[in-house]
Amino acid sequence: MATSLQISSTYICGQIGFVDRCLGVDSVSWSSFRSVSFSSQLPSLPLKQLYSSTQAQSHVTVSMVKAQSNLTTTEFDTSLSPRVNSVKPSKTVAISDQAAALAQAGVPVIRLAAGEPDFDTPSVIVEAGINGIREGYTRYTPNAGTLEVRQAICHKLKEENGITYTPDQILVSNGAKQSILQALIAVCSPGDEVIIPAPFWVSYPEMARLADATPVILQTRISEDFLLDPKLLESKLSERSRLLILCSPSNPTGSVYPKKLLEEIAQIVAKHPRLMVLSDEIYEHIIYAPATHTSFASLPGMWERTLTVNGFSKAFAMTGWRLGYLAGPKHFVSACNKIQSQFTSGASSISQKAAVAALGLGYAGGEAVSTMVKAFRERRDFLVKRFGDMKGVKISEPQGAFYLFIDFSSFYGREVEGFGGIENSESLCRYLLDVGQVALVPGSAFGNDTCVRISYAASLTTLQAAVERINKALIPLTSAALV
Ligand SMILES: Cc1ncc(COP(=O)(O)O)c(C=O)c1O
Repeated sequence: MATSLQISSTYICGQIGFVDRCLGVDSVSWSSFRSVSFSSQLPSLPLKQLYSSTQAQSHVTVSMVKAQSNLTTTEFDTSLSPRVNSVKPSKTVAISDQAAALAQAGVPVIRLAAGEPDFDTPSVIVEAGINGIREGYTRYTPNAGTLEVRQAICHKLKEENGITYTPDQILVSNGAKQSILQALIAVCSPGDEVIIPAPFWVSYPEMARLADATPVILQTRISEDFLLDPKLLESKLSERSRLLILCSPSNPTGSVYPKKLLEEIAQIVAKHPRLMVLSDEIYEHIIYAPATHTSFASLPGMWERTLTVNGFSKAFAMTGWRLGYLAGPKHFVSACNKIQSQFTSGASSISQKAAVAALGLGYAGGEAVSTMVKAFRERRDFLVKRFGDMKGVKISEPQGAFYLFIDFSSFYGREVEGFGGIENSESLCRYLLDVGQVALVPGSAFGNDTCVRISYAASLTTLQAAVERINKALIPLTSAALV
């Protein structure tokens, strides 16, 4: 019987014909092969033993299972690639799933964990999508996106952000998430460092790992509104530093980088010939005056080395339409375009039609977006006041996005009867879910264990109820025994 073996590990190595013989199979398919020669020929070994010999050189974790066909029993390898094994699953998704399961079981959980607006997509955008289907825009689009949507993006970036691009410097993808991952894969080489200020959006370090790079986390302080200290940045840069990721307004803190601070950062970046900047501006429109948004690429000398990421999910309440984009020098955008062409191809044709309508709503999304921002601002003000008045709680007033990142660490180290110890942000979130029935995300997911993230993409009434529950759940903690 013909047997075949799929080797997906990047690190198992050797000469293909030779390994075929050793494995005793008829074909070996190398889905991601990086050649590192064995120093000497391995003896002919059964599969399991061969793997342990290669493991010693390649640090691959291997698991074996037995598979049965009608004719024979064979062993095959179910191990995953080291790249996948190095990636942590998203805690935001985990807690949202846990809260959803509780809600399904009838527990009246208030869910403030998800990072998506609670508004419907504005009707003009929805209509454009529907018309797109009716008018037959249901086929593959160019890989980079339709010329129509890329031209509209160029116009937006020029008018609103003061940065000039041509359509061949724009790549439209299935959400900003894809734009970021492709950018990392395009510019990072193994061993490169990706500089990420914490608190960070959960996916940045994991995406850096997926791109074979090493995330370097730079801590910020709540007392400094979670903004990156340029001196700290300067002290951590080296020739290995390839990419600095900035996110303003920030998920999870809502901090907005003032132009002056960005200029200081730009001066430091300019001293490093290998260093590029990925500026994630997806919350750009959800910003509270007097704070203003500055695009990093608009700063002197930064256009050439900045990859600007933006999208439609947040400001236009279009999370499910899956549309984001990357703007940057053609050299890098073309590299990302190549990755996308072998990965997903162009984004949804219907969503691209809808995006053109979104960009046609006027400056910064016009009234449709400003109405949502007004509601977010009211909620932010309410939460800042309520948590600001709470004992043992520290906050930094967010200037944008729809998150509040609250320091609850004064409640850590307590033992609650019937629950157990509260040692960190994760156990506090479990406690608040169990006892308070409010789902929040532990700060550890964002690289800061002192805090917990509240998403205020929920009505004021819901937020009022949530604050009451959190307050009530925290009261026993103030008198609980220290452990
Ligand atoms: C900071 C940040 N960047 C990017 C994304 C990805 O957005 P998209 O839905 O466009 O993939 C998110 C989504 O949560 C985000 O919070």
